[in-house]
Amino acid sequence: MSADTMRAVVQDTFGGPEALRVAEVTRPVPLPTEVLVRVHAAGINPVDWKTRGGSGMAGLLGEPPFTLGWDVSGVVEEVGFGVTTLKAGDEVYGMPWFPRAANAYAEYVTAPARQFARKPATLDHVHAAAVPLAALTAWQAVVDTARVRAGQRVLVTAAAGGVGHFAVQFARHLGAHVVATAGAARHPWLKELGADEVIDYTSTRFEDATAGIDVVIDLVGDDHDLTGTRSLKVLRPGGLLVAVPAGVSPELAAAAEAAGVRVTPFLVEPDGAALTTIAALIDAGEVAVEVERAFPLEQAGAAHARGEAGRTRGKLVLTTGVGPGAN
Ligand SMILES: NC(=O)c1ccc[n+]([C@@H]2O[C@H](COP(=O)([O-])OP(=O)(O)OC[C@H]3O[C@@H](n4cnc5c(N)ncnc54)[C@H](OP(=O)(O)O)[C@@H]3O)[C@@H](O)[C@H]2O)c1
Repeated sequence: MSADTMRAVVQDTFGGPEALRVAEVTRPVPLPTEVLVRVHAAGINPVDWKTRGGSGMAGLLGEPPFTLGWDVSGVVEEVGFGVTTLKAGDEVYGMPWFPRAANAYAEYVTAPARQFARKPATLDHVHAAAVPLAALTAWQAVVDTARVRAGQRVLVTAAAGGVGHFAVQFARHLGAHVVATAGAARHPWLKELGADEVIDYTSTRFEDATAGIDVVIDLVGDDHDLTGTRSLKVLRPGGLLVAVPAGVSPELAAAAEAAGVRVTPFLVEPDGAALTTIAALIDAGEVAVEVERAFPLEQAGAAHARGEAGRTRGKLVLTTGVGPGAN
């Protein structure tokens, strides 16, 4: 491998997990305002496998070949002209470029400096790479969009997943009463994270078990058992459904209007400043980060297969083979 190349996960066609392979590709060079980051770990998110298969952000990335991934944790190797806030050697994490391609399943990434933040000091790179997309989604849904306040009742569906475990903790941090749906095996852990009530969605319909909810953070959507539409029933008049997975269909919008509640689509955005705030909460011990498993780049396909099964506790992460704890 020359100094101008690096290892990256690429795919030549849309397809299943087997479409992912490691290849030697050109190493990116930072433009003015950008940093070159030596990636230690890259987080995996559902949008990755959706895009791999031709949905998700595939329309923005265009036809393969391309490299998936948005979440990175690593070390600044080089800064482009004009960057004053970061320098070589700084440990950073981020979700740069989303929803454009970030090519994060690779040994190096370039992106605007301000789309990164300093990595939480108390986390290794594997755990830091698990944070950006999922935690920014939870933060922007709970804090920026719903403006959750102390005393409000917040329902989080799929609370045991990547976004859900952060949403539970952020809502709890704001002083909300948190109701969470998850399989029974995850209930003790979710209570430790701050859930006040837990509902086993495999045996109980949540609309039979809770009511008077101010904000629903729905992470399941209408594709599975009409979870979004059913969640309208638990909202108080004027309450808000943040429809995270697949936007708001005309049918869902009409049902919300008929029920006298609000619904909004949602798409996460890069936000280095919010990542700095989130890092402070993590370092203060207010927010825990759960990584179910880390896989080496070469096992990206196996990692996707695990994620697509829909049972992940917290997050899955890829490691590039550098740094302590790699692979
Ligand atoms: N719009 C955006 O900007 C945005 C951003 C991030 C994510 N998303 C979307 O949001 C969704 C969640 O993302 P994620 O990263 O949190 O996914 P994830 O980590 O893959 O979610 C896995 C979790 O889902 C739970 N689950 C599955 N079906 C469930 C159901 N019917 N009821 C309750 N829990 C259920 C599982 O819990 P059990 O094991 O207990 O069953 C598992 O812990 C995905 O569709 C993703 O694409 C959208």
